[in-house]
Amino acid sequence: MDAIELLIHDHRRFEALYDAYERSRPTATDMEKRALVDRMIEGLTAHAFIEETIFYPAARQAVPQTTDHILESVEEHHVAAWLLSELRDLEPEDEKFDAKVAVLIEQMRHHQEEEEQDWFPEVRAAMGAHRLDELGQRMQAARDEAPADPLGVPSARS
Ligand SMILES: [Fe+2]
Ligand SMILES: [Fe+2]
Repeated sequence: MDAIELLIHDHRRFEALYDAYERSRPTATDMEKRALVDRMIEGLTAHAFIEETIFYPAARQAVPQTTDHILESVEEHHVAAWLLSELRDLEPEDEKFDAKVAVLIEQMRHHQEEEEQDWFPEVRAAMGAHRLDELGQRMQAARDEAPADPLGVPSARS
């Protein structure tokens, strides 16, 4: 998979988790909620990490006009990282849990849609297939270095 295919493939996986959470929310046990949210924390943290450390800088260099979109995307990651970190430490029986998950899902759907519609196409057009393949391979390998802690993603502290 090239870099953009890899990121969009991740987005689809996350959407399946968001849908599963929303569908099961009325009847899910605390353990089921915990399991779904833990998968979101792990997946979204690694995804944000490879975007911030590899894809965003490469995209910004290839298409300087994407800079504003990328800066906004990083701020959205920042907010998501703190929400994920709070969710990691919150028990599903806490009355705030569902509300925090709902806000996370709403924000991430918006974020993913903006990436895919507003600026990934320009990056694809500007980078050749070879460069996108090479970035995809680096990003796949970098998943192993991703932090488990959402606050370990660079945007969390910036
Ligand atoms: Fe992102
Ligand atoms: Fe993304």
